[in-house]
Amino acid sequence: MPKHTRLIELELENFTSHRRLAVNYGRITRLSGRNGVGKTSIGTAPVWVLWSTDLFGSKFNPSPVNYEFDRVFASLLLEVDGVQIKFAREINEKGTNAFYINDVPTKAKEYEAAVASLFDRDEFLSLYNPQHFFGLHWTKQREMILRYTTPPAKQEVLKHLPEPQAAKLDELLKKHSLDDLAKIHGGTGGQKSKLEKANIAAQSRTKTLQEQLALMGSEPDVDPATAPQDIAKIDAAIAEIEQSMSGADENNRKIVALQSKIKSLLEQRDRMKQQFQTLQSEPIADACRVCKQPLQGEAVEAAKADKERRIDEFKREYDAIVAQRKEAEAELAALEYIDVSEKLDEIRRWQEAKQALQDAIRAKEDRQKLEAQVEQARADEAATLASLKESIFILDTIKAYRAKEAELQAEKVQSLFTTLSIRLFKYVKTTDEWEPDFSIQMDGKDYAVLSAGEKIAAGLELAEVLHKQSELITPVFIDGIESYTGRVAVYDQLITGRAVPEQELKIETEGK
Ligand SMILES: Nc1ncnc2c1ncn2[C@@H]1O[C@H](COP(=O)(O)OP(=O)(O)OP(=O)(O)O)[C@@H](O)[C@H]1O
Ligand SMILES: [Mg+2]
Repeated sequence: MPKHTRLIELELENFTSHRRLAVNYGRITRLSGRNGVGKTSIGTAPVWVLWSTDLFGSKFNPSPVNYEFDRVFASLLLEVDGVQIKFAREINEKGTNAFYINDVPTKAKEYEAAVASLFDRDEFLSLYNPQHFFGLHWTKQREMILRYTTPPAKQEVLKHLPEPQAAKLDELLKKHSLDDLAKIHGGTGGQKSKLEKANIAAQSRTKTLQEQLALMGSEPDVDPATAPQDIAKIDAAIAEIEQSMSGADENNRKIVALQSKIKSLLEQRDRMKQQFQTLQSEPIADACRVCKQPLQGEAVEAAKADKERRIDEFKREYDAIVAQRKEAEAELAALEYIDVSEKLDEIRRWQEAKQALQDAIRAKEDRQKLEAQVEQARADEAATLASLKESIFILDTIKAYRAKEAELQAEKVQSLFTTLSIRLFKYVKTTDEWEPDFSIQMDGKDYAVLSAGEKIAAGLELAEVLHKQSELITPVFIDGIESYTGRVAVYDQLITGRAVPEQELKIETEGK
C-alpha cells in the first residue's frame, strides 16, 4: 500500500440516483441532504471504481433501475504518494464493463492488477470505511490488527518466565524454532509419548528381573576368589586317595584268581580219588585186549606190570595236582585282601563337596549377572524417566512461553485502544492452552448491539489504531454522521455523510 492516498476528484454518470455529478474533494468533504439524495452512493463510488463492490466489499451494481441511461460511468482521480492516477469503470449499453487508467482503455486483468499493485482491498476498506472491519471474519480481523503490531521479542517474553524455564528455552531456541520444539517433544510422534512408552517398558523390565532375582533364593555363601583354590585342594585329595588305591585292584584280582584256581584243583583231586578206586579194582586182563586169545604166563605178568605202571603214572599225576594246589594255597596265604570301599566313599564325599562348591559358584555367578541386569534396567528406567521429565519440562515451558507471549501481545494490542477492549486469545481448558481468537467490545458490548453512534465511535477508534499502526494515510468516509456526537480526529482527508431533513444534496469542502 502507498503511504499516502488522497481522493482528488470523482465524476459520476448514471450512478444510482446521480445522473451526472462531479465531486472535488477537500481536506474535509461534507455531504448532506435528505434521505435518498445520494450521500452513501458518493461514498461508495470510489470503492466501486476500484473493485466493483460496495463499502463492505460486496458485489455492487449501481446501474439505475428507474430511469433510462446510456452508460454507467465513474472515474476517480487519486493522488498516490504524490503521484496522480485516474481510474475509471464503465458499464456500457450492452452491459459490459470497460476500464480506463488515466483515460487509456485498459483490459480488465491489467486494470485489476494495477489496482491490486496499489491497494489491499480489505486494508483500504478497513481504513476508508470504519464500519467495514466489523463485517470481516474474526480471523481476518485478528490478522489485520496483528499485521502491524510486532510480536513481543523473544528476550522480552523469556524475561517473564521463571529462570530455569527461561534458561532452558533460550538455549533450545538457538537450534530450533518454538514450533519445531513443540513438534519434537509433543504430539503423537514426539519425544514425550515415545519416552512414556519407553519408561513403562523399562519399568516392567526392572520388575521382571527383580522377580527373577527373588526366585533365586538367598545368595550362596561362597567366595569366587578363593573357591578355585578350594577345588584344587579337593582334586589333590582325590588324586592322593586314588594313588593309594592303585595296587589294591591287582592284589584283589590275584586273590580271586588264586581262590578259583584252588577250588578247581580241589575238585580235580576229588575226581581223581574216585578214578583211582576204579583203577585199583580193575581186574588183570586174561585175554588179549586186541585178539581176545587167553593170556599165558608172561603175558599175564605183562598185564600186571602194565596195571602197575598205569597206577604209578596216575599217582604222579595226582601228586602234581596236590602240589600245584599247595603252591597256590601258599601263594594265597601270602596275600591279603585290601578293602577300598571306605576310600571310594571318601572320594565320593570329596566329589560331592566339589560339585556343591561348583554349583554354588555358578549360582553366585548367575545371581551376580542378574543383579547386574537389574542394575542396568534400573539405570535405563531412571534415564528414560529423566528424559521424559525433560520433555515434559520443555513442553510446559513452551506452553508457558506461548501463554506469556500471548499475554504480552494482548497487552500491547490493548494498549493501543482507549474504549475498545480487544481479545486475541481464548483459554482452552482441554488443551490448557491459549488459542488464537478475536473479539472486540465496547464497554463489554459486542459491536452488533451498539447504537448507530456507538458503532461510528467504535469504527473510528479502530480506524485510528489501524492508521497509526500501519502508518498508512487514506481518506475516511463517515456515513450517517448525524447520529454521532463524539469527536472526529482527522488524519488527512475526511468525507462525511449527514442526513439533513428537507435539504437537497449539498457538497461542502474545507481545506485543500
Ligand atoms: N441501482 C439504482 N438505481 C436507481 N436508483 C438507485 C439505485 N440504487 C440506489 N438507488 C437510489 O439512489 C438514491 C440514493 O441512495 P443513497 O443510499 O445514496 O441515499 P442517501 O443519501 O445515502 O440516503 P440516506 O440518507 O437514507 O442514507 C436512493 O433513492 C436509492 O433508492
Ligand atoms: Mg445513506
